[in-house]
Amino acid sequence: MSRLNGPVVAIDGTAGTGKSTVGRAAAQRLGYGFLSTGGLYRALAYKVFQEHINPADDAAVLAAAQSLTFRFERQPDATLKMFVDGEYLGDKLNLDEVGQTASKVSTHAAARAVLTEKMRQAGKDGGIILEGRDIGTVVFPDAEVKIYLTAAPEVRADRRVKQLLSQGAPADYTHILASIKERDLRDTTRVASPLKPAPDAVQIDTSDMNRDEVVEAVVKEINKYAA
Ligand code: DC
Repeated sequence: MSRLNGPVVAIDGTAGTGKSTVGRAAAQRLGYGFLSTGGLYRALAYKVFQEHINPADDAAVLAAAQSLTFRFERQPDATLKMFVDGEYLGDKLNLDEVGQTASKVSTHAAARAVLTEKMRQAGKDGGIILEGRDIGTVVFPDAEVKIYLTAAPEVRADRRVKQLLSQGAPADYTHILASIKERDLRDTTRVASPLKPAPDAVQIDTSDMNRDEVVEAVVKEINKYAA
């Protein structure tokens, strides 16, 4: 399929494989947009929190998803900055508790369908890298480039610890490793759009690679399409 601004690039994988960092860097190199789709699930989780909705309540989570409005503004660093109901939520969405609730609310098929449609709208014209869990399988099964990143849970926990410490935040390796494993299990075993590689995705194990090597590998895959 030929799109207005170039290919749709799907980067999927478990939490902490570097999808966001790598996706953003690759997008900058190529002059593409970049959208971290977990942000939409995090925004829904945030709303669920604020309104004291039970994350297990199918109908209430769906109503919350339907009530949210999203607007995306392209930034100089390629990122599509997300405004939820007109507000930029920033770091509030990055809390681990929000990530865990996002993983819970993302088990509801009907709410997923609502957010999936928003992602399709944001990406349909191409020239964009979308990072998530089901981009290559569900959101854009027709994506021109599909990449699936993996890394051992211990490596991912280690990276998260370093990231938190560099931000001056407290970090407990054992707790973080358990949290990563819990989220992996939920994301890969849920009934609605479980995390799994698309059959036509290129799989890259980043356990023994540094950031620049992964960016290089991803850009190489995208350039194969463009060539
Ligand atoms: O990538 P992240 O940590 O911001 O994602 C938060 C949660 O959202 C994740 O645990 C699962 C869910 N998610 C999803 O189900 N599908 C996506 N495309 C992106 C995220």
